[in-house]
Amino acid sequence: MSRVKKIAVLPGDGIGPEIVDEAVKVLRQVEEVFGYSFEFEFAMAGGGAIDRVGTPLPQSTLDLCKNSDAVLLGAVGGPQWDENPPDLRPEKALLGLRKGLGLYSNLRPVTLFEGMEKSSTLRPEVIAGVDLVVVRELTGGIYFGEKTRVKTEEGEVATDLLIYHEHEIERIVRLAFQIARGRSKRLTSVDKANVLESSRLWRSVVQRVAKEFPDVELEHMLVDNCAMQMVRRPAEFDVIVTENMFGDILSDEAAILTGSIGMLPSASLGEGSLGLYEPVHGSAPDIAGQGVANPSATILSAAMMLRHTFGYEEAAQSIENAVRTVLRRGHRTPDIALSGQMAVSTEEFGDRVAEELVHFE
Ligand code: NAI
Ligand code: MG
Repeated sequence: MSRVKKIAVLPGDGIGPEIVDEAVKVLRQVEEVFGYSFEFEFAMAGGGAIDRVGTPLPQSTLDLCKNSDAVLLGAVGGPQWDENPPDLRPEKALLGLRKGLGLYSNLRPVTLFEGMEKSSTLRPEVIAGVDLVVVRELTGGIYFGEKTRVKTEEGEVATDLLIYHEHEIERIVRLAFQIARGRSKRLTSVDKANVLESSRLWRSVVQRVAKEFPDVELEHMLVDNCAMQMVRRPAEFDVIVTENMFGDILSDEAAILTGSIGMLPSASLGEGSLGLYEPVHGSAPDIAGQGVANPSATILSAAMMLRHTFGYEEAAQSIENAVRTVLRRGHRTPDIALSGQMAVSTEEFGDRVAEELVHFE
């Protein structure tokens, strides 16, 4: 019998609580079916935490996460906090968690599930066979560089510093090569080396690390071209490694290859086994509280937790298979329902996935 695994659960804002509930439901079913034990502890983060205790990431939440085996996060943010000063912004919780837990790599698998071609706004023949992973650097770059804003006689001036250290690039790039080695042995490194010095450093580190992986076929691509190729010939990509902001933007674009941003899970990892698991999308305030959010991304993030932090590969696959089956049967939330198809609610989708979990031996 394995040790009880402690999971910190941070539902967050907007649709966060609704989708996290479904992922927890599925994890509870995993306990039943596979005999594992999880201890869930809920905590505040984001806008809700600002309103209740005056800070987006209370120390108690960070401590809980540090003392847990894994973190499951919904999403943070919403229009009511948009005008807040930098230290009182919900995203501060996310950035603080990533940095505070040393989670420098963000894995974002982009998989087109069977029968989902028609849910995308792209042509089915363009997205057929899409199965790629974006490996995004998560604790460096422009999101973490110093920010300034000053009023001058000619108006306001704002700066965001884009800074990368060689060691930050090296560790994420090495991980991407390892992932590529375990897949189709093809890696695309995305940068903007024609204009950015940090990208020229990025490219030189990639070239150096590549010598350790002669079996992996490497291509460099400028980010603007990548954004285009992603919708022109997406099935040709396998592993994409890139810096923080480019990875953020490209993965939202990649979401449409799978039908909806509600389908995209992610894992944020560091040196240890602790991982943070969250959907790629945000708090979707436009649909919050209506019971219509697609919980797939969060449920699939829970599957990634089982795989990457706990090593429960069979249980991870059973969740992925359950999602696949539920989608194939046509039980879909409004964002991916086909015309003429009756959409299911967030809760009903979660129920179906939980029911579908089986212990295959
Ligand atoms: P968003 O990802 O929340 O929503 C974009 C669009 O996708 C919306 O139309 C939304 O309804 C839809 N959508 C997102 N998730 C969905 C789901 N599971 N099922 C069905 N439809 C879904 O991005 P947006 O609107 O730019 O940002 C909203 C708030 O979320 C902002 O406050 C932003 O700062 C925050 N945000 C938080 C993130 C996080 O916590 N990791 C990441 C991105 C944004
Ligand atoms: Mg994003």
